[in-house]
Amino acid sequence: MQILQDKKIVLGISGGIAAYKIPELVRRLKEQGADIRVVMTEGAKAFITPLTLQAVSGNAVADSLLDTAAELAMGHIELAKWADLIIIAPATADIIARMTAGMANDLLTTICLATSAPIAIAPAMNQQMWHALPTQANIKTLSERNVQIWGPGSGEQACGDVGLGRMLDVDELVTLASDFCTDKYLQGQHWVITAGPTREAIDPVRYISNHSSGKMGYAIAQAALRAGATVTLISGPVNIKAPVGSQLINVNSAEEMHEQALKFAPKSTIFVACAAVADYRVAQIATQKIKKSNDAMQLELVKNHDIVADVASLDNKPFMVGFAAETQNIEQYARGKLIRKNLDLIAANDVAKSGQGFNSNDNALTVYSAIDKTDIPLANKQIVAQRLVSLINQHYLAKKN
Ligand code: C5P
Repeated sequence: MQILQDKKIVLGISGGIAAYKIPELVRRLKEQGADIRVVMTEGAKAFITPLTLQAVSGNAVADSLLDTAAELAMGHIELAKWADLIIIAPATADIIARMTAGMANDLLTTICLATSAPIAIAPAMNQQMWHALPTQANIKTLSERNVQIWGPGSGEQACGDVGLGRMLDVDELVTLASDFCTDKYLQGQHWVITAGPTREAIDPVRYISNHSSGKMGYAIAQAALRAGATVTLISGPVNIKAPVGSQLINVNSAEEMHEQALKFAPKSTIFVACAAVADYRVAQIATQKIKKSNDAMQLELVKNHDIVADVASLDNKPFMVGFAAETQNIEQYARGKLIRKNLDLIAANDVAKSGQGFNSNDNALTVYSAIDKTDIPLANKQIVAQRLVSLINQHYLAKKN
């Protein structure tokens, strides 16, 4: 199951320079399982060829309202009825104006009038054109009609101007489409997620840490947000961006993470401990850089608090999910942690296998409860996270009822 599995998307392209990014958008939406039919305006064809879009979408491109052969294949009304979602990217000032006026003077605007599917537009134009009063009035009207306005972004423009008017990046558009198409089954829930590594200082310039990239925890945050939850992400230092809409709490050490977790967890519905927390910290952090001297040196380490176990011992504890990264005896160790840490679920991954787990884009999990286990097979961390979030919710609802 992919995020856009079997979603039927009409992707309308109008005539802007950002049209050159659309083959990549089509590819990425297809990767998420969407079925794409491309509709191009005359202007769009000046920037990019229908053949390219046909090749990447795997379907004939529709570009004419008055083409008898094309109408025989999938006519404009059929296309309008077929769509679960219409995305227009890039959406120029011109098509925005024509949509607002309710015109039907080409295939794309006609489909927009003839559909009952939701419509999203990704505006792309010169910053002056974007700020122009007619454009702003049109955008306001479209928005009041429930057209989703995705962007524009800000930055350098093809014409050399700098400002608002750039089409959103392909990544952002895929995220918005995925968010829009996901059922908001977690509405009203608050998820607190720990993610990434912790850093245990040795002196002002050195620390002890591990290879956790934060990708799994961030993917869980993204999937929970997408399903409508409020998300607090308590994160150790990582090199990835927090999902838009999450409340990001940056921490360094395990003790800082512990403090923040105990602060946010009591108000939450579900607590997911995905962070690779250092088990020990340096007993005495040197205030000055330690100088090289003897051949050997010793650091005294003391145990850190177990964050997930401490949250699980709260009176008003949320539904508790832990992770177990193991290299051997996975089930035995995972079940041991489930009981010892007083968790509702534990998601175990085999970090000894290459291509999954730490730092990788892919993962596979086995999720244990006290009475059963569920396999989430190898897939990219977004897909694994989506399945895990849904599974956690099922167990949470079962416990609650
Ligand atoms: O390190 P360990 O294998 O015990 O981690 C199992 C689970 O406990 C993970 O969910 C991890 O995030 C959590 N943990 C924690 N605080 C620690 C150590 C681990 O929350 N100090």
